[in-house]
Amino acid sequence: MLSKADTHVHTYYSGYTKYGILKFPESVETPEMQVENSRRCGMNTLCVTDHDAVRGAFIAKEYAKKYDDFTVIIGEEITTADGEVLAYDLNELIPPMLSIDETMDRIRSQDALAVAPHPFSFYVPCLKDRIFDLDLDGIEAINGGHVDPYTNHHAQKVLSENPGRWAPMSGSDAHSRYTMGYNWTEYEGSGEEDFRKALKNKTTKPCGVPAPVFTQVQWSVQVTIGAQKLMIQSLRRKLEPIPENPLIDKVLRISDLKRVAGLIGGAMYVMPPMPFMGAIAATTWLKRQANALLKKE
Ligand SMILES: [Fe+2]
Repeated sequence: MLSKADTHVHTYYSGYTKYGILKFPESVETPEMQVENSRRCGMNTLCVTDHDAVRGAFIAKEYAKKYDDFTVIIGEEITTADGEVLAYDLNELIPPMLSIDETMDRIRSQDALAVAPHPFSFYVPCLKDRIFDLDLDGIEAINGGHVDPYTNHHAQKVLSENPGRWAPMSGSDAHSRYTMGYNWTEYEGSGEEDFRKALKNKTTKPCGVPAPVFTQVQWSVQVTIGAQKLMIQSLRRKLEPIPENPLIDKVLRISDLKRVAGLIGGAMYVMPPMPFMGAIAATTWLKRQANALLKKE
């Protein structure tokens, strides 16, 4: 049998991202929701790869035990001093901001697998040409969050010039249900052992296409509204702490003034046509940068 794996998925354990003075949650999806979302999209394997966190992956794995046709792989998207790297089959967290060499040693000491996400991205920290001197199991041929015409194209070119060197991977990089299901990695068999074997033998098959731009808009609106709801609950003193929940922790730590400012800023952002204008501006910039890089190739 052939399995469909989404090899790059985030939950709200991925924390926050900063845009200037504004902070947005990376995701408002719980680990349990991401299991259900990926099942709905036809996956039978899910690698939970939060930014510098593994708690969400363990929760997803525990939750998915009720399905005998579904596998959760404990992963992490580790921020290293040299760019991001994905690890699969971890037993414990690998801390961020070590060198890539130290990080690779730690991945191997856990007998885990290592994959370069969006290896040639020009706007997300990544390994670029370091992939040639590292002992990586795979690289992403398709990253679902990269709609620009350069990043995935260049990774596929490097893969075709080096057949059999890395397992070609395709992960959604979904931070939201809306950006999931457009791309996946196929492997022969099912479950953790077969997934491992496929990566080691470089027999994975990258499938699908990056998620359409409008789904990225849906994601940004989803996180903004999700954060708004938490802000309102905390202002009404109705928000209960949940251990190690990064979203609630953050909202409970900020002042009422910041909560109100967040509410106003968020309301301005989700008001049409703002999110669409933002998406058009970002896509235009990405295309221009990507085309300049393609000319240099
Ligand atoms: Fe990611």
